[in-house]
Amino acid sequence: ARLVVLVSGSGTNLQALLDAIAADPDGFGAEVVAVGADRTGIAGLERAERAGLPTFVRRVKDFASRAEWDAALTEATAAYEPDLVVSAGFMKIVGKEFLARFGGRVVNTHPALLPSFPGAHGVRDALAYGAKVTGCTVHLVDDGVDTGPIIAQGVVEVRETDDEDALHERIKEVERSLLVEVVGRLARHGYRIEGRKVHVGE
Ligand code: GRF
Repeated sequence: ARLVVLVSGSGTNLQALLDAIAADPDGFGAEVVAVGADRTGIAGLERAERAGLPTFVRRVKDFASRAEWDAALTEATAAYEPDLVVSAGFMKIVGKEFLARFGGRVVNTHPALLPSFPGAHGVRDALAYGAKVTGCTVHLVDDGVDTGPIIAQGVVEVRETDDEDALHERIKEVERSLLVEVVGRLARHGYRIEGRKVHVGE
């Protein structure tokens, strides 16, 4: 399967995918064909360039409207003919055109146990709320914010000593292995969406 990965930051989820594919190029069942971002100057793009991958950047502020940005992101992504789009720390909500083109084929990873703590500050919100456990969720993207059908989740204990960064780092360890496992399974076995359920490999 052809993957386009969208990033906004350090790209450690992207790196985990690249490392897993490099470790088993024939068995993993997918290849990253391009990396897209909503901003320049991020480690995620450097990781892509180090891996010799094509990259593209579409910044919201470079477009007259959000819809035009969405159209540009869709076009840039479609150029690589992905079977699956992986949003790995991509911090923008894709719009109607993107979903019309790739709906049902966009996987997102979120650093909280959805439906708890959706949005851009899931780690901070769980910590502030006093949650005893949190974690990460790998789900299909629908037209809401972090509301699509859940594919897998991983639990992470919250420690008394945690601040946002420490907790997020521990979540990311679980998240990276969960994302690699899910993307590999979806790529190798395919999946079927039935309401809020995602049946993998059937
Ligand atoms: C991940 O925890 C992702 O869930 C969140 O931001 C983080 C991105 O990490 N949205 P990285 O860029 O993959 O290192």
